[in-house]
Amino acid sequence: MSKPLVAVVLAAGAGTRMKSSLPKVLHPLCGRPLLEWVVRAAAGAGPEEICVVVGHGAGAVTDHLTTLDVGVPVRTVLQRDQLGTGDAAACALASMQPGERDVLLLPGDMPLVTSETLASMVSLHTDDATAVTMLTAVFDDPTGYGRVVREIGGGVSRVVEEADCTREQALIDEVAVSTYVFDEPRLRAEVARLGTDNAQGEVYLTDVVAALFPDVDTVTVDADEVHGINDRAQLAATETLARRRINEAWMRAGVTMRDPSTAYVDAGVELEADVTLLPDVVLEGATTVRSGSVVGPGVRLVDADIGRDVTLSYCVVRESSLADGSDCGPYASLRAGCVVEEGAHVGTFVEAKKSVIGPGSKVPHLSYVGDAVLGADVNLGANTITCNWDGVDKHATKVGAGVRTGSGTLLVAPLEVGDDAYTGAGAVVTHDVPPGALAKGMPARNVEG
Ligand code: UD1
Ligand code: CA
Repeated sequence: MSKPLVAVVLAAGAGTRMKSSLPKVLHPLCGRPLLEWVVRAAAGAGPEEICVVVGHGAGAVTDHLTTLDVGVPVRTVLQRDQLGTGDAAACALASMQPGERDVLLLPGDMPLVTSETLASMVSLHTDDATAVTMLTAVFDDPTGYGRVVREIGGGVSRVVEEADCTREQALIDEVAVSTYVFDEPRLRAEVARLGTDNAQGEVYLTDVVAALFPDVDTVTVDADEVHGINDRAQLAATETLARRRINEAWMRAGVTMRDPSTAYVDAGVELEADVTLLPDVVLEGATTVRSGSVVGPGVRLVDADIGRDVTLSYCVVRESSLADGSDCGPYASLRAGCVVEEGAHVGTFVEAKKSVIGPGSKVPHLSYVGDAVLGADVNLGANTITCNWDGVDKHATKVGAGVRTGSGTLLVAPLEVGDDAYTGAGAVVTHDVPPGALAKGMPARNVEG
């Protein structure tokens, strides 16, 4: 009979080896904080709630958790002093009423554990009705991990921390990865009895395993799923695994990657089938790319919304959208707030900021477009610049539909250029241009009609 399940995530540790002002569990892995990977995995195992034990950097960690919606309530418990994993578990237990439930406990620095693995532990625990089901893995290099000591019959009798290992025990390559499903009353009883009689003088949660022997089950998973992160070298190595997992999932969903080893796709990115990623692309944040679009080579997208059949090469796009059939690059930068409408073209050596490029419009070469709204079918000649900054304030430029500017036009804002107007090459336009007029000269003079 299955009991209610509560998940407890241990995330109070200092993470000293990261040598960082940012709490360890907030370091991003493929754009998502370590702790968020863990909380999402835990949520997938079906708990009633998730209790995160916080301590070091508690404020920042709690702030991040409040931005999350994982479909399960998430709350935090403060562990005042980081006395060890056993003390962290005690803090979590102290925050809940004693009761007949299972406790899924896992560390906040092990981002790649999957919901499937956690759920399989919970169901084995339920079927066998043991006191604890623990997760183990066999590591090529077990250095730093607690070693799993098994009896002749194969049952786990205890976990020995590296600092406490005999030479013989240090050779054991099966390790504990701080992930357990406990029967709550048994855990509560044993945690209350834990001491600090060990090499590190810490309260070890792992000592509960020996106390519960022989009532211990294990689930063993591939080592790649359960690497803990203690320093930035491990962070990078784990990110490589995460990236491979993300890329494989997108390729199976219909995305072509010319060279997946050079495609950096954040965990929060959405891609449609028949998107093509060429080499050296970095897709970050809440970026979306729709079907038929070709991204790369050499593209960075940050919170970008890319429509269908869009072509992007050698460009950076931030907090901007490109509608169906538009294109950008090579060598272009779209800064925050750009809306490139259907079929529009942003070409070579172009920078745009907080601007609308209307449907079918072209900004082909060497332009700066800032705080501007371009209507449909505009063509800005090479080196057309919107002069949006007067030294004190930013001003807007409005360019009507069908406008053509000559090469080297300076549009001095605030300015409105009427529909179907023209400017001559090198025009310095300081006054509004009526629809259909030609503005020429420096400063430009308007020639009606
Ligand atoms: C722990 C385990 C070890 C296991 C390894 C990797 C113990 C005694 N050792 O060692 O068997 O192989 O993890 O899974 O449990 N934490 C707190 N409060 C504390 C101390 C730690 O919340 O007072 C949290 C940390 O933030 C971290 C997790 O518990 O998320 C593990 O702590 P860490 O210091 O990394 O433990 P290890 O020494 O790696
Ligand atoms: Ca650790």
